Amino acid sequence: MNEFTLPEELPQNNWYKAIDRRISRRRYHDTPLTRQELDELKEDIAELDNCLSFSRIVFSQEGFSQAVKTLLGSYGLVTGASSFAAILADTQADSFRANVEAGMLGEALILAATARGLNTCWVGGMLKKSEIRERLNLGHNEEVLAITPLGIAHNKPTLAEKLLKRVISSRSRKPLEELVEKYQPESYPDWVNTALESARLAPSAANQQPWRFEVYPDAGKLILRSSRDNKKHGISPYLDCGIALQHLLLGAENSLRRQRSDWNDETADIKTSRKQKRPVYILLEPPAVAEVFLSSGE
Ligand SMILES: Cc1cc2nc3c(=O)[nH]c(=O)nc-3n(C[C@H](O)[C@H](O)[C@H](O)COP(=O)(O)O)c2cc1C
Repeated sequence: MNEFTLPEELPQNNWYKAIDRRISRRRYHDTPLTRQELDELKEDIAELDNCLSFSRIVFSQEGFSQAVKTLLGSYGLVTGASSFAAILADTQADSFRANVEAGMLGEALILAATARGLNTCWVGGMLKKSEIRERLNLGHNEEVLAITPLGIAHNKPTLAEKLLKRVISSRSRKPLEELVEKYQPESYPDWVNTALESARLAPSAANQQPWRFEVYPDAGKLILRSSRDNKKHGISPYLDCGIALQHLLLGAENSLRRQRSDWNDETADIKTSRKQKRPVYILLEPPAVAEVFLSSGE
């Protein structure tokens, strides 16, 4: 079984802080991002993009409007933006793994953009996939799973945005009591509670939140599984679960970093041994998605 850890160099602290601020925005000013802004975003996620084998992200300075269908009144009317990024999966890879990786990578980009003051929205439906393929010059083994506009949204949410929010109650999330089997936060270590709270806020297609968690405090691990195995509206639940996994890891990492800064009074020996602890994940067999635990710190 392969163990994975997010590269330490990633701006994880900024991404963690962006979790609270991120919301989907759907009506944009048409000013494209500058080359420099796009390069900064690429740089933010480069380390992660390199280490995930079956997903990658391609940026386009223009063409968002031509990449989405704009049928009036449909779910997911996202308009006005120029720049966008496409989240791609390798069609030759195992689809479960490619979707999980795409969720992780795509959400890293969404949080990186949020941290830089940009607005975003995962768009997995209503895509004009052949236009996107052509514009981005994609290989025949690459599938577009979703895109996100990258830009600045209009200040006030539009009527359509407000209606959509009401229909899919996009700001509401299921309580952890419903998401975690036999939820007993008082018996969990801080990194597990912070990870769960972060994952709960993750975005998902139509806000379905198709993720469930099991915590094994004695074994020091938690398990993420999908609540279903089938696609809805062409979107795999494993894409959503990859997004939740990214949030889990960022939450866990943030808790460990906070603890380290509390340990300033401790001896150098203890600090060095604990310093190495990082959240690690192993992918499982679907519908289970991943096991998350801490590295031994040795
Ligand atoms: C994989 C995925 C696909 C999505 N596709 C669309 C879409 O096609 N149109 C849309 O308006 N929103 C789409 N969304 C945004 C969700 O509706 C939104 O994340 C969810 O309602 C939670 O709201 P929030 O992002 O404001 O927290 C998608 C989200 C995800 C994660």
